[in-house]
Amino acid sequence: MASSASTATGVEHPEQPSRRDFLYIATGTVAAVGAAAALVPVVSQMNPDASTLAAGGPVDLDISKIEPGQQVVVRWRERPIFVFHRTPETLKTLQDKQLLSELADPNSQQVQQAPYAANWHRSIKPEFGVLVGICTHLGCIPLFYPQPNATTPVADWLGGYFCPCHGSKYDAAGRVFSGVPAPYNLPVPPYSFVGNTTIRIGENPSGSTWDFGSIRQL
Ligand code: FES
Repeated sequence: MASSASTATGVEHPEQPSRRDFLYIATGTVAAVGAAAALVPVVSQMNPDASTLAAGGPVDLDISKIEPGQQVVVRWRERPIFVFHRTPETLKTLQDKQLLSELADPNSQQVQQAPYAANWHRSIKPEFGVLVGICTHLGCIPLFYPQPNATTPVADWLGGYFCPCHGSKYDAAGRVFSGVPAPYNLPVPPYSFVGNTTIRIGENPSGSTWDFGSIRQL
């Protein structure tokens, strides 16, 4: 178990998902706002503790700053980690029977998450989703479209993640739709709560020895 954790926060504003705005906060300081920033450079700009990140150590995130409907992107082991503060509407949608019928693995039976996230919301607390933001098809970074929309990014969108590379769709819990190129749900990294408002990405909750290397596909 790692003994230290770095702290990093980047807030993604969902109001205009086609305009990739990100606000970065590192250790409580607003670092940068990139109106046209793509996700990869945004994530690479966050460098709260280079030695900790290089060692693959855990990253602490203060989730009290994330408004409902917003997403934060954190870098862990050189991967983007999406932390989404889900709204009550989003949580309701995750249990929608029509949605569930369109998902490839609605009950998270494939090992793409620890047992403590193998539930309908694929997380420890329903209101906070934590996902590895790498498409399980060929590794692109899915885009965040949290709001339902009749036409964007595709017709009858219910909210979630859309991979523009080959059109894979995931719901707001990272569950992949049937009939798209991606074969598996987005992975959930090991994480735990350190107090009520801080999560530690990269470390299981006390009592869990789950190995992230056991997932089916990254
Ligand atoms: S890499 Fe995401 S759909 Fe191909």
